Amino acid sequence: MNRRMMIKEINALKQARNAVILAHYYQYPEVQDIADFVGDSYALSRKAAETEADTIVFCGVHFMAETAKLLSPEKTVLLPEADAGCPMADRITADDLARYKAENPERTVVCYVNSTAGVKALSDVCVTSANAEKILAHYQDHRLLYVPDKNLGNYVKRKFNLDLEAWPGFCCIHNDLTVELVTTMRKRYPDAALIVHPEAPLDVLDEADYVGGTKGLIEYVKTSPHSQYLVGTEEGLLHEMHKTAPEKDVIVLTPDLRCYDMKKTTLESVHRALKTNTHAIEVDPEVAQGARRAIDKMMALSEQ
Ligand code: 13P
Ligand code: SF4
Repeated sequence: MNRRMMIKEINALKQARNAVILAHYYQYPEVQDIADFVGDSYALSRKAAETEADTIVFCGVHFMAETAKLLSPEKTVLLPEADAGCPMADRITADDLARYKAENPERTVVCYVNSTAGVKALSDVCVTSANAEKILAHYQDHRLLYVPDKNLGNYVKRKFNLDLEAWPGFCCIHNDLTVELVTTMRKRYPDAALIVHPEAPLDVLDEADYVGGTKGLIEYVKTSPHSQYLVGTEEGLLHEMHKTAPEKDVIVLTPDLRCYDMKKTTLESVHRALKTNTHAIEVDPEVAQGARRAIDKMMALSEQ
């Protein structure tokens, strides 16, 4: 089937099923372009909670579709590619966390949204890259464990001088960024502003003109006065930057900034998802109840 036909069929299936397509900014441009809503982890969660559709097709990775299911348990939530996971989320299991909690009962557990429902269920509050600073500001007098991303954890720890232990997990894409690479790229583009996602190592974040989640990076490019930007996050984000700030020159720090799991979803897989109802996300009801508590806490604090 050619691309035009495929898009036509996707739209017809969507209408017939009363479905909505949500996509993360790291998806392929053509997948972003057929979505009803494109956003960061936080905005996508909110959208999933608010939509009136019967079915949500989630173009992203497993933890995102699972979060959508937690927020809309009565809806069918489809992840077009069953094995689109997040290696960072898999760096801690619910068993690992249960063991840690038994040994460190005094620690309040903060989980990054890039985590499984099982880990969320054992956490006190969830955060995303967009609201981690705002939410952790409420926990300055707590002893904290932050899972699973050591980079974002150590970044907020230093910012607020927190008593925070960071789980040694990381995103294999962002964690590979180095100061050497930044130095080389800055020599090549001396006038560019450097903007980086907080999943990058701390020494790279120290070099940045701006640190923020995907939405924050887009806003910065749109509103700051620079005309050129070196972007330290997954290359898919450049599609939205080109749309919202076409006059700006955005350059990804390295072509290696490509999330293999995010790039599993294609127009073909979205088409198949709608046609064959695959792959429906299910969460154990007891786990879902616990995980929902941590997400609701995040929602409440981030709207304060
Ligand atoms: P955002 O929460 O900033 O959208 O990022 C999600 C993610 O997976 C980053 O690697
Ligand atoms: Fe996970 Fe990294 Fe991919 Fe984000 S970019 S989904 S943290 S592996």
